[in-house]
Amino acid sequence: MAERFRIVGGTPLRGEVLIWGAKNSALKLMAAALLAVGRTRLSNVPAILDVTIMAELLRRLGCVVEYDAAAGVVEIDVPDQIGHRADYDLVRALRASTAVLGPLVARCGAADVAVPGGDAIGSRGLDLHAAGLEALGASVRVTHGFLVAEAPRGLDGAEIRLEFPSVGATENVLTAAVLARGTTRLENAAREPEIVDLAAMLVSMGAGIDGAGTSTVEIHGVGALSPTEHAVVPDRIAAGTWAFAAAATRGDVEVVGARSGHLTAALELVEASGAVVRGTERGFRVDSGGRRPRSFDVATLPYPGFPTDLQPFALACNAVAEGSAMITENLFEARFRTVQELNRLGAETRIDGHHVMVHGVERLSGAPVEASDIRAGAALVIAGLVAAGVTTVSGAHHVDRGYAGFAEALQALGADVTREADDDPFGVAFTRS
Ligand code: UD1
Repeated sequence: MAERFRIVGGTPLRGEVLIWGAKNSALKLMAAALLAVGRTRLSNVPAILDVTIMAELLRRLGCVVEYDAAAGVVEIDVPDQIGHRADYDLVRALRASTAVLGPLVARCGAADVAVPGGDAIGSRGLDLHAAGLEALGASVRVTHGFLVAEAPRGLDGAEIRLEFPSVGATENVLTAAVLARGTTRLENAAREPEIVDLAAMLVSMGAGIDGAGTSTVEIHGVGALSPTEHAVVPDRIAAGTWAFAAAATRGDVEVVGARSGHLTAALELVEASGAVVRGTERGFRVDSGGRRPRSFDVATLPYPGFPTDLQPFALACNAVAEGSAMITENLFEARFRTVQELNRLGAETRIDGHHVMVHGVERLSGAPVEASDIRAGAALVIAGLVAAGVTTVSGAHHVDRGYAGFAEALQALGADVTREADDDPFGVAFTRS
């Protein structure tokens, strides 16, 4: 049944919150497990729906997958012979399913992966993924809604330069090249911590990789890889979510299990808002001193720049800040969906191309709004915390895809947030008398 969050605004967040492994790493590590026959064990895996979907995809390929969500452990038993097809129902539900492309071409010499449709954050092509695999010697075509990659005689190392440091394309080149003949040199690679995490797991499986986390990565192909055990890197986007939530609500939150070094650009802006950020033994702490945030400009960029996934939270914080700010989205064209909904809560914003001007107001005013994706949904819940009265955020399932126990974590920080059925057939914008 559809659910929504119900938020009674006004309480600053205070206390501590625990960060699990990164969604955007766990899904890729699960796909990478396909590269070795045998049992790979991942720990610190978040309890989110996306992991369940990726587990189902791996099962359909022939793997035995056990997911203990409470313990945060996924065990993947990969047989000698695996399938090489990812159907549209899975790819549509989970865009990150495309992470199986590289491992399948490397292991099977073939991959048929459904092409995801345009999603709520822009068109997001696969052209760079395809170009990378082609450079390694695969033939790639799109037919009947599938990207079909074939390399019956295996892959050969190559010099590849990505036109743009795409996270997904970097990952697929890495996971394909580890079993290629010879050396691959990948230039203009993405540098995200999730890439470093994937490379670390691949190296623990026996891969030869130098330079992960820099723009130039060298991959020395090997004949076979072995299964491994690996703990997923902490989720920097979840950690950043709480940092902005603390600043926006005039709160004081310790983010336990987070790595502040993965969030330098974001935490600089949290500090620009006037909050004090300090490293602690267990993570970091954001203390607003009970003060209203000051406005700060934001421009999203590939890592180590400010992450696009945190842009909706910076927007929500600026909506109640003192002053005006310009938010510039450089990665995804349609990532301003939060704006219209924030305006329903009384935010003063104006969109101009890939910029949003935000003029901060003292307090938002509660209203029914709708989540369009994971981050937009979570950002709207946080906006509800700084709105007078009651806000409802429909589409709670979007938030569940990226945040395990979001409402519970907020309650533990003192917020008045609950989940309730959202069964109004006309949509939550209607008030029934
Ligand atoms: C990943 C993250 C996502 C994050 C994004 C950028 C996962 C599951 N998702 O997405 O949360 O917002 O990185 O940090 O890890 N592009 C192309 N052609 C391609 C590939 C990408 O045009 O072949 C474009 C996309 O349309 C987009 C930009 O490049 O505008 C960035 O995409 P990319 O870095 O590939 O992001 P994802 O891996 O899809």
